[in-house]
Amino acid sequence: MARSKTASGQPKRVAVVTGGGDCPGLNAVIRAIVKGALNRGWEIYGIERGIEGLLYRDRVRLLDAHDIRGIIHTGGTILGTSNRGNPFQLKVTTRGRKRVIDVSDRVVAQFHRLKLESLIVIGGDGTLRIASNLAAKGIPVVGVPKTIDNDLAATDLTFGFNTAVATATDAIDKLHATAESHERVMVVEVMGRYTGWIALYSGVGGGADVILIPEIQFSLEEVARKIKDRWRHRRCFAIVVAAEGARPVGGEMFFKAHEEGREPRLGGVAEYVAGELHRLTRRETRSLVLGHLQRGGRPTPSDRLLATRFGAAAVRAVERGEQNCMVALRGTRITTVPLERAISEIKTVPLDSDIILTARDLGTSFGDERPVAREVMAHG
Ligand code: F6P
Repeated sequence: MARSKTASGQPKRVAVVTGGGDCPGLNAVIRAIVKGALNRGWEIYGIERGIEGLLYRDRVRLLDAHDIRGIIHTGGTILGTSNRGNPFQLKVTTRGRKRVIDVSDRVVAQFHRLKLESLIVIGGDGTLRIASNLAAKGIPVVGVPKTIDNDLAATDLTFGFNTAVATATDAIDKLHATAESHERVMVVEVMGRYTGWIALYSGVGGGADVILIPEIQFSLEEVARKIKDRWRHRRCFAIVVAAEGARPVGGEMFFKAHEEGREPRLGGVAEYVAGELHRLTRRETRSLVLGHLQRGGRPTPSDRLLATRFGAAAVRAVERGEQNCMVALRGTRITTVPLERAISEIKTVPLDSDIILTARDLGTSFGDERPVAREVMAHG
């Protein structure tokens, strides 16, 4: 491969950073980026623990082939990450006083001082928004979409989603044993923030009886009716998958924490639904929250592949001199889209999605209406 140098004859200097929540496949992307860069004779720098790491000398390090050995199958990120380090709104405590300050100009200055030419930012919508704002201040950015939630509109798929769905489906499979043995209703809460992708995919894949997603407000009476129906058909157990952002008709989403300057933390819908279903059906119910289990573990082969393709494509974008763009999957091809477009809207589950229609055909309830006339039990 041609070794690419700058006009001064120096190797190209590129930096990579991971921001926001961790996600299975991050290390596979980093590996692809580092390999792609080294194979072109570039210098590739890793910024540790988020974009704000640029401000600290000991958090920017030159990466070599050694750093990325044996990491394609590992969870987490070798660079560390943070969802607190927004340089435009950095929280600091001086002499016991908490303040929010804007250090973005210092980040930009440091980027240039280090003679970096391009910044590859691997992140979800929050991190990519920060990256887009830095791009507006003169840092050439190439984004790589990352989130288990699969909620970025500009790409058909994000890596991490497939692994999260596999973890959630595995949990649902296991819950069947207790549900069936004890004749219980098991309500499992999965992540996904304001979208129902993880709930929908794992719910259908795991044969859930009820799937609650933010895109369809649910009626508890309707869910209870579905459960009573199951007992009437001598299927004396039920699995309910609830996306953390699901909410009852006319009600609010369930939040655990609102911290200034941070995305509010969702949580609590499964416990609420389990309690109400017990009241309405008198059946024994239990709830559990899968939580961060969905973000950990070995990335599935398809996530490793997508992550690797995204990483390699990001390096090619840098090589072509593209900036302020994000790599994206469109159909079967990897392409680039303007960064601004990439963060302009979230991708919710379309109500006419084939997967929703499929689930309804099988008798799965979304808690919104009576299922189609021919009642086919989800468990057969
Ligand atoms: O965006 C990924 C995600 O895991 C969401 O599904 C979830 O709502 C959120 O991050 C949890 O964030 P934290 O790790 O800050 O609790």
